[in-house]
Amino acid sequence: MLFFLLFVTSLMASTTFAGNFYNDFDITWGGPHAKILNGGQLLTLSLDRASGSGFRSKNEYLFGRIDMQLKLIAGDSAGTVTAYYLSSQGATHDEIDFEFLGNVSGQPYILHTNVFAQGKGGREQQFYLWFDPTRNFHTYSIVWNPQRIIFLVDNIPIREFNNAEKLGVPYPKSQPMRIYSSLWNADDWATRGGLVKTDWTKAPFTAYYRNFNANACTSATSCSSTTKNGLRDDAWRTQELDAWSRRRLRWVQKNYMIYNYCSDLKRFAQGVPPECRPSRVH
Ligand SMILES: *[C@@H]1O[C@H](CO)[C@@H](O)[C@H](O)[C@H]1NC(C)=O
Repeated sequence: MLFFLLFVTSLMASTTFAGNFYNDFDITWGGPHAKILNGGQLLTLSLDRASGSGFRSKNEYLFGRIDMQLKLIAGDSAGTVTAYYLSSQGATHDEIDFEFLGNVSGQPYILHTNVFAQGKGGREQQFYLWFDPTRNFHTYSIVWNPQRIIFLVDNIPIREFNNAEKLGVPYPKSQPMRIYSSLWNADDWATRGGLVKTDWTKAPFTAYYRNFNANACTSATSCSSTTKNGLRDDAWRTQELDAWSRRRLRWVQKNYMIYNYCSDLKRFAQGVPPECRPSRVH
């Protein structure tokens, strides 16, 4: 008997199924201040004196890679915060945060990151960006697997949070999270620690979202993934930083990191949290 194996090679080398905002998200705050446009390909949030706005994913995710492109408020964005994060619910919730703190024209945004596990955060790292995030769309990604969380900007890792349960540090691994984003006024703290207030004559302030993609699991057994070169793109499941990525991470942390809780010895006079101590095991 002869067996013929037929290998079907797609001529489409790479297919990406970018999400549709109508299918994947609900507007949860600000009514008409949030808009889905271009048949679901673009979402805008805006803020004026009357209200900010926000949205939330319909799905909950338990591990995955989540990508979104954002273009932040152009010009004077001082006092505003654009938050983009994953979170579960309740007092012992887990959370993985990107927050963009606006600034006056020509001055840099701050990208603030944090990780909450079992309701406890306090793991802030802050960065300037190596580009103007208001000029073009840039991709902000979270890779979340049982071993680590990697924050990426345009596919460059800016932060890695390793599972340090062995050291007694809780790790987000059992509570499914939704994706949330909101734009609001935080001029009591956001820009230069609250010194610069929101200039309402510049309102409305608008942030733009497109090309959402989730290669992620909505439960332990149900996962979706796009394909890359005809194969399921599941790289996130075991993703870790290779030598190239590690060099990029060091470059970002050396040149653009402006705050790291792990080196805040004033705050942690009794010793930095256990996950901050260098470990041989990743
Ligand atoms: C805004 O610009 C000032 C001056 O360059 C800078 O110190 C600050 O970190 C910037 N970002 C925020 C969010 O305050």
